[in-house]
Amino acid sequence: MNITVINGSPKTHQSITLQHIHLLEKENPDHRFEIIHIGNKIPSLEKNPVLLDEIVQTMQASDAVIFAFPVYYALVPSQLKRFFELLGERCEPGLFKGRYATSFSTSIRFFDHTAHNYVQAVCEDLEFSYVNGYSAHMDDFFRETERRKMLRFFNWFSEILTLKLLVQKKYFPRTPGLVVYDPDIPQDRTQGPSAHPPPQVLVLTDETGADTNLSHMTRMFAAFCADRVTVKNIHGIDLKNGCLGCCTCGYDNTCIQKDGFGQFYDENLKPADVIIIAGSIRDHYLSSQWKKFLDRSFFNGHVPVLHGKRLGFIVSGPLSQTQNLRETLEAISETWHMKSFGMVTDEHGDRDQITARIRDFARILGLAAEKDLDMGPRFYRVAGGKVFRDFIYLTSAVFRADHLFYKKTGFYEDFPQKQIKKRIFNALFYFSMSMAPVRKKIHEKFIQGMVAPYKKRLKKL
Ligand SMILES: Cc1cc2nc3c(=O)[nH]c(=O)nc-3n(C[C@H](O)[C@H](O)[C@H](O)COP(=O)(O)O)c2cc1C
Repeated sequence: MNITVINGSPKTHQSITLQHIHLLEKENPDHRFEIIHIGNKIPSLEKNPVLLDEIVQTMQASDAVIFAFPVYYALVPSQLKRFFELLGERCEPGLFKGRYATSFSTSIRFFDHTAHNYVQAVCEDLEFSYVNGYSAHMDDFFRETERRKMLRFFNWFSEILTLKLLVQKKYFPRTPGLVVYDPDIPQDRTQGPSAHPPPQVLVLTDETGADTNLSHMTRMFAAFCADRVTVKNIHGIDLKNGCLGCCTCGYDNTCIQKDGFGQFYDENLKPADVIIIAGSIRDHYLSSQWKKFLDRSFFNGHVPVLHGKRLGFIVSGPLSQTQNLRETLEAISETWHMKSFGMVTDEHGDRDQITARIRDFARILGLAAEKDLDMGPRFYRVAGGKVFRDFIYLTSAVFRADHLFYKKTGFYEDFPQKQIKKRIFNALFYFSMSMAPVRKKIHEKFIQGMVAPYKKRLKKL
């Protein structure tokens, strides 16, 4: 069988994910693998349509395509995101109909599922028959049992191709809102680039000339916002490449790429009290420019540098039909320890209703600030925090800056083995529960016993 592998890692030949693909290749000599590295090809694919045509022809001529990638910020790297955009822009509908595709990722398994969901959604848009992908932890490769699982996955996948089995589609075409949002914008109170002192509300947008709805939405928001607002277009940042995945920044949070991104981040995002991310839906995410921006934020490592700031999203497009996007945005705000107060879209209602929603979105933001609203951490932050904590603890040589921060701010105090009092109590309780008569008595009063300390405290308050 002829398999085309699209390697989305910016590290191309040095990619960890690619070594997994080589394993599949080595153990399956009957199949022919053609590997195409797109992680360093995007600028030439943008300039030269013939190059993209050649890749598309190779994909078309093969029996199946494997999209191999590292998970970056709960999705694929910006380079692969742009590749998908180019396929969507330049390929005739139905070009891959009847072809099979799957995905293979490596990561530390933090929001790997949303990355695979995204690839499935774009593959299904391109009319591939998408077969569920494989998500390997980057350490799995060194375990025989895990390697065997990967090989079994590939065998299962190739059997599906051989038997031409029908696969279940997960994503169906979305109906975009039809409203052209063109309101009368009261008075634009946004500050110019030389505004002093630093902005309180920073609206970051990626709008281009084509995004008129988004442009009007951000301007309307700025006009309604009671605070000082600065709007910045991220296309204006001197941002040369996407993240290269080198992890050099792990030592002291300095990016190896010498462009204007770090300075932009430090001068604009860090001093802001509120950050609004504004973007239009492109395929099943925001634009690859936004993805590039997020990937490059990795120079901050796993330190929540925007901790405590408020965050909101202005999204043009069918967000309610793109739940995976919502989930990845929520994942980002939670793991950055930000206080998210929601999203506003242009997908429902007429012009006036959209305006009213933007107005109230701005008011809700104001109220949240007034009341110092903090909804507390949720699953994404708590679970993600544990994944990062364990990972940084074991990779402190690479992620030294994270490690020093985690140590200083008590992230490691959260390890269960450090919670001595709870462990002693639990050990005694465990022992008591092993005695049948004591256990019987405890179970009789279990519910009352659990709530008793709460009632006691309530009385005292
Ligand atoms: C910019 C960046 C973002 C990352 N984001 C995630 C993430 O969201 N979830 C995760 O589990 N791992 C994440 N990782 C870890 C990579 O997915 C992991 O190291 C992967 O194995 C690298 O594969 P590669 O060598 O093929 O590029 C990230 C790494 C980088 C450099």
